[in-house]
Parts: sequence; C-alpha cells; structure tokens
Amino acid sequence: MQSDLRGRDLIGDLDFSKEEVETILDVAWDLKRKRALGESHAYLRDKTLAMLFFFSSTRTRGSFESGMAQLGGHAAFIESRTTQISHGDTETEMGEIFGRYFDGIAIRHVDWGIGNRYLNLVASASRVPVLNMQCEIYHPHQCLADIMTIIEKKGRNLKRKKMVVSWAYASSYLKPISVPQSLILQMPRFGLDVVLAHPPEFKLMPEIMEQAQEAARVAGAGFEVTDDMEAAFKDADVVYAKSWGPLLTTQDPDEGKVIQDKYKSWITDQRKMDLAKEDAIYMHPLPADRDVEVTSEVMDGPNSVVFDQAENRMHAQKAVMALTMR
Ligand code: CP
Repeated sequence: MQSDLRGRDLIGDLDFSKEEVETILDVAWDLKRKRALGESHAYLRDKTLAMLFFFSSTRTRGSFESGMAQLGGHAAFIESRTTQISHGDTETEMGEIFGRYFDGIAIRHVDWGIGNRYLNLVASASRVPVLNMQCEIYHPHQCLADIMTIIEKKGRNLKRKKMVVSWAYASSYLKPISVPQSLILQMPRFGLDVVLAHPPEFKLMPEIMEQAQEAARVAGAGFEVTDDMEAAFKDADVVYAKSWGPLLTTQDPDEGKVIQDKYKSWITDQRKMDLAKEDAIYMHPLPADRDVEVTSEVMDGPNSVVFDQAENRMHAQKAVMALTMR
C-alpha cells in the first residue's frame, strides 16, 4: 500500500500509480463505511479547499463541498466570473495566493486548449495540492468513482471482463471528451478489456490513445476501437455510454452539432442493452440527455448504477482530499 500522498496534485489520471489508486480506493471504502455508521472521520479539521469553477456543475460541486465538511474542513465555492481573473489575476498569482489561503485548490476548467494548461500553471505556483474537477482532457475524480463502482458491482478481479466505452448521441451541447479519455487510461490498469466505440468524427486525442494502448499492454488487458455501437455492446459486463463532442474534428459548436445530428441512432436503449450480458451494469457520469442519449427505461432500469456511481464521487474525493491535504 502506497500510503504517503501528502502534497500531491491530481490533474491527470496517470499522475497516481495503480498502487496509489488502490490506496485511494481502500481509504474511500473506509470513509464510506464510517459515514454509514455515523463514525466521525474529521481528518481535515481546520483545513480549507478552494473550489474554482469556470464551468457549471451539480455533482462535482455538491460532492466536494459536502465531502470537505464531513472531513471537518470547509470548501469555498468560487465562480471564476465573480473573481478578478478576467481583470488580470494570472494563473501564477492564483496558485501563489490561493496556496497561501487554502490547503487545497480544486479547479474545473473545460475550455478546449486552455483548461488543462490553466490547472498545470496554477499547480506550478501553488504550495498546496491542485485537484482536477474536470478539464478538457481528464476527469480523474469521476473516473475514481467509476472504478470504485465497478469493483463494488463486479468484484476486485476484473480480468477478462469487458467494458464498452461508447459514444452516444446528445442534442444539448458538445460535451467534453475528458470522461472517455480518463476511462480508457484508468480501466485497463485494473484488467478490464476496454472496447471504445464511436463514429469516425468522434476520435479521442492521439496521445491519450497511445497511453491507453500502453496501459492495456502493461496490464495484459484488451483495448479495441470500433465504429459499431451494437457490436461493442455484445457480451459486455460494463456499459458506459455517453456523449462527447467531435472536438478533434471541429471546435465550432454549429459545425459540431451538424456532425452530431448524423448519429441519432446512437442511443442506449433496452434493445442494445440486451446485447450485453444479462447482469451488465449501465453507467453514466450524468447529466444525461434523457430519451436522447439513453432511454429512461435503461437509466431507471435494474441494470443502471448511475446513482451509486454519483454517490461514490463523494467517497472517492474524500479519500483523495484526506490523503493529499493532510
Ligand atoms: N459527472 C459530473 O461531473 O457531474 P457535474 O458536471 O454535475 O459536476
């Protein structure tokens, strides 16, 4: 067990080794058990977390804020538009100054080509850990909750279990590619055979694909790519189907929508779920475009674990905060 994670940033999924992720998961289950029993676990008494949001959130804000309070500390919700960032506060200044006020700095910034750089620049100037609440490349805390949920539902031995990470149609907006990218990086390390399915215009970043291939090779797991959603679902143990924008093809929202609208048949419905194993779990980080991206029948059905998955955000993040911000 790798036990000393004090002061570490979590920006990309591979920032922590597999052993370190296992430590986080062990602590997350301990904290989950303590909360269930009503046992105090104020490991961060008198500590504070800055939560800096450049983009909206339901789960991430709620779970970090509540989790920090449960650990005996306080989380400050800060929207970028209410700060002086647009009037000149630089990344270096934010890291230096917030690093003196707070014991951790959590940031969500998903703007294409800007968010990840912003987090890394803040981290370079900060004396305290920087935690990625989602950038345009990674969503590592979502992914920790996801692996935690998969292990709870499927057990610790995930070797030869098939996980499909599939694109799905959405009409609301061009969603970031960070969730599928985090999944293909992290899941092979736990032995899952990952099948990535998407239409041709919805490719992920080439360097992330290479890292995912390498993670799968090292773990002796499978990693395949297909443009056939139904073939991907066949005999899957884990179905993780969500929308993302064709951001490697175009970053123009109108152009992206035209491309996206060609693939309305990429909905997760019961007929497709029936291609997967009978006990397959359906996962989605939420929010989902109901009855567009996934039918209500699947989302609210017996195979769906989306609410357990959302709950685990809080337990996993508490573990990260307790280990890095002590
Ligand atoms: N899954 C997720 O990150 O949800 P929010 O966007 O609501 O935080």
